[in-house]
Amino acid sequence: MKGIILAGGSGTRLHPITRAVSKQLLPIYDKPMIYYPLSTLMLTGLREILLITTPHDQDAFRRLLGDGSQLGLQISYVVQEEPNGLAQALILGEEFLAGDRCALILGDNLFHGPGLGTYLRRNTEVKGALIFAYQVSDPSAYGVVEFDGQGKVLSIEEKPITPRSNYAIPGIYFYDERASRMAHELTPSGRGELEISALNNAYLRAGELNVEVLSRATTWLDTGTHESLYEAGGLIRTLQHRSGLRIGDVEQIARDQGWV
Ligand code: TTP
Repeated sequence: MKGIILAGGSGTRLHPITRAVSKQLLPIYDKPMIYYPLSTLMLTGLREILLITTPHDQDAFRRLLGDGSQLGLQISYVVQEEPNGLAQALILGEEFLAGDRCALILGDNLFHGPGLGTYLRRNTEVKGALIFAYQVSDPSAYGVVEFDGQGKVLSIEEKPITPRSNYAIPGIYFYDERASRMAHELTPSGRGELEISALNNAYLRAGELNVEVLSRATTWLDTGTHESLYEAGGLIRTLQHRSGLRIGDVEQIARDQGWV
């Protein structure tokens, strides 16, 4: 399995700073935002990573992460000319994936929790698609998954005005080797984007979508607004001070994994 981080987008909710700087380079307490999703992929055991950026931000990410060798990784880069949607990552990443499975993670999503790496590592042999569900009070800004009484998935809706459940779909998705081919078959949504929910629905229709509810012990934050960015910084600071452990420290993870 290979990893893809989506770190493009326009970051309009964080204007004005994101007119000048990529959102994913803003600090969450003591590290750039991108370290957190990168650390999640590293804890999943993935070492071949593709970073998707806007054309003007790629140099800054290269200055920060280079080719990844200092972390025992192979990081490659590809540009997304326009923010045409999350599912475009699978098309832009087709050559990089070269028929392998992938974990796609959003560059502004932060995951933290006991055993998360072990849990994700157990799922890297994915058949079909594996996505996650996480209970939130207001899921209307996300993809929302609806289950029946037996836990079977009934529907997936992108940013519904009236959500059918409180289960939001966090920004980490595991796909088998068909993802790029299936992404090519998608058509843009009303807002002109190749939606990740459309890809997940294609897997659902094929009977090959698995959804696992993430444990309540896992923290999932989307850090794309001023409010959530501030909250995430405070949370990382509190957790690190309290425990003395570091969260999202890619150098430390590389050493712990024995990669450097
Ligand atoms: P969003 O937060 O949905 O979009 P955005 O980053 O453009 O921000 P805003 O809504 O404030 O305008 O994107 C989620 C993540 O995916 C984020 O890390 C940016 C990335 N992204 C891309 O790389 N390409 C895209 O086409 C889109 C839509 C998002």
